[in-house]
Order: sequence, then structure tokens, then C-alpha cells
Amino acid sequence: MTDSNTWLIREDLDFLNHGSFGATPRCVFEEQHHWQRQLENDPIEFLAPERSLLPKLDRVRQVVGKEVNASPNDIAFVRNATEGVNAVIRSLPLSAGDQILVTNHGYNACINAVQEAARSAGASVLNAQVPFPIRHPDEVLDAIRTQLTPNTKWMLLDHVTSPTGIVFPIAELVDIAHSNGTRVMVDGAHAPGMLPLNLSELNADYYTANHHKWWCGPKVSGFLHVAAEHQSEVLPSIISHGANLEGFGPTPFQSQFNWPGTFDPSPLLALPTAIDFLANLFPSRESNRLDGLIKRNHDLVVQARRLLLDRLALAEPAPESMLGSLATIPIPAWKNHSNAEILAIRQTLRAKHRLELPIFRFDEENVCLRISAQAYNSIEQYERLADAVAELT
Ligand SMILES: Cc1ncc(COP(=O)(O)O)c(C=O)c1O
Repeated sequence: MTDSNTWLIREDLDFLNHGSFGATPRCVFEEQHHWQRQLENDPIEFLAPERSLLPKLDRVRQVVGKEVNASPNDIAFVRNATEGVNAVIRSLPLSAGDQILVTNHGYNACINAVQEAARSAGASVLNAQVPFPIRHPDEVLDAIRTQLTPNTKWMLLDHVTSPTGIVFPIAELVDIAHSNGTRVMVDGAHAPGMLPLNLSELNADYYTANHHKWWCGPKVSGFLHVAAEHQSEVLPSIISHGANLEGFGPTPFQSQFNWPGTFDPSPLLALPTAIDFLANLFPSRESNRLDGLIKRNHDLVVQARRLLLDRLALAEPAPESMLGSLATIPIPAWKNHSNAEILAIRQTLRAKHRLELPIFRFDEENVCLRISAQAYNSIEQYERLADAVAELT
């Protein structure tokens, strides 16, 4: 199980659900507490924007910008990806008759935000149906292309889908959207630390992601990247001093987001320690210091999925090339289970087998399990999962 010196996860559990809330290494947790102690030691000096807060935030912004190849000027901090999506969608100049496109693999909380924004503007939401199981990334492109109309003003696409754990062909999707005159928001909640990111090259209009998932930053923190031409339009979910006062940031965009009211910046400030920690786990190329970790986690999830599929005699529900470090497997024997039965399986896995992972209904056809592979996981854990699932099918 996990190395208790390095990670905090309890040792009597096979934790296979990094994807939901991440997990923080001990050194990162300690770094966060170091910042919290400094704050309490001298609260005004530490937290007042006109004293030393902004330079501290800017240092983290530089680190994030470097990791995702984006200008720090285009990056604001948010508490999480849900907040990043809300900030953008609630700022959009939508009109009656406009259409917003989402997909059936999207994250429920963010789709709710889209639906609310559409409802209040008299716009409509199109739900593109991407197949699952899926055989090729082209099936994602086709599902989106066939839904586009001249009224599709905006789309919300996941970089890595939460329920199905697949990596969308996001660069092609951004191109398709832009050639239709549609703006794209990418929900990259899972992407940093799971995939190499180059936001300058991607050229999405908006990109939000979590620090607390695959970067293993403390909960709660994330970033929102907005293309320069849209920044004057995007407001944070919380309007605060930065809306009219000077001294909250170098640009109106950053000044709006830098101060959401009194807050605890320690999760943000500990992020560089988290990325340094991950970068030192596995050898990497100099050009991408997380390469080694990304490859190791991908290889592990591929191996683990293969083991489960072989053991349960199932076909692969998505090509290996569409996986990052998550994998979802529909279990046909559970297809007609009620919600209570699905919950009971999850509880048995946890209570009897000491396995923590999501078991859920994706759609009418598919009741699935989802595995995650992070640095603290090993193949033996998925072997134990295969034994347990075989017993429950
Ligand atoms: C694709 C996607 N978007 C958004 C979120 C929401 O993350 P948070 O609750 O940290 O905002 C998740 C969480 O799993 C997710 O998978």
C-alpha cells in the first residue's frame, strides 16, 4: 500500500481514487502549514495585498505559467475548476437563441452552471452524445461537429472526462470550434500533472484546472487561464475590492481575481513544493519535468486496466491512446443494478476489501468502475481489485 512517510493516505486502504480529490504528499501538507503559521504570526504583513501577498501570489503564477506554457499575465487563481467554469459562464454575453454545447461526458456540476447561465439568458444547451465505449478519437470530433450550428456561441469541453476517464482530442476540438466562430472553454480539471500542457499552443479561449488533483497541491486551489482578448469580459464569481480599487493587481483581470475577500492563500503557496516533489519522483526530460511521472502513471493505469479486462473477459472500452492516468470500465454484470445495489458494491469494496474507488451508473447501458494511477499506487492493488470484482460479478 502507500508509503506513510511520503504520503498521508491510511495504510490499511488501497486508495484507487486519486481522480476525485487528489491526495497530498506529507511534505506539501507541511509546507502548507508553514505558510499558515507565517500568516498567523503576522497577519497584516502576510495577507494585506498592499504588503506582501501579491508578490507571493505572483511567484506561484510564474510557476504555473511555466508548467503550462502560458503567460502569467493570463492566469488568475480560483478555488477549483467548478469556480473557474462558473466565472466564465456567468460572465458571457449570451443572448436569447444562442446555443451552448456540452457533452454527455461532462462534469455534472459544471453542466449545471452552463444550464443556469443559459436559462437566465434564454439560450439553449446542446448535449453532444460522444459514444462510450469508444473506438477512436474521431468519434468525439464527429459528435461535436454534427451538433454545431451558426448559433453555437460557446462550448464547454473536458480535457479529461470525469466519468469515462478519456482524453479528448482537445487541440482538434478547439480548431473545429474556432472555425465555426464558437468560443471554447476547456475544463482541464484533471489535466495538470496527468498530461503535458501547452496552453499557448492550444489557443483555447478559456482553460481552467485544479491544482489539487494530479499536481497534488493542497485542497483547495486551481487556475483560470483566459485569452487576452476576453479578459476584460470575465469577472470572478466573487466581486470584491479589486473591481474599483487600485493595488490589487497589475491588470483589471488579475486585480478582480486576486482578492476574493479574506482567504487562506496557503494551498496556492504550497503548490511549487508539490510540483517539485512530483518532478523528483521519476527521471524526466529537461523540457518537461513531469514527463517521467506522467509516463509512469499512464503505463500503470494501462497495465491495471489490461489486468482487469483480462480477468473479467471484457473488451477495452477505449483505446489505450485515449487514456491518461484514469481508466473507466463498464461491468456488464452490473448493468441492471439499482442505485442501492451500486452503492452496496462500493460499500462492500470499501468495508470488506479495503478498496476505495468510484462505482457509478454512466448511462442506461453502463455501470462502471473507475481506477486512478498515481505515484503511490502499485499493480498489486489492482490485482486485489480484480479479485474483489470477480467475486462481485
Ligand atoms: C472534469 C471535471 N471538472 C470539474 C471537476 C470539479 O472539480 P472541483 O470540485 O475541484 O471544482 C471535476 C472533479 O472531479 C472534474 O472531473
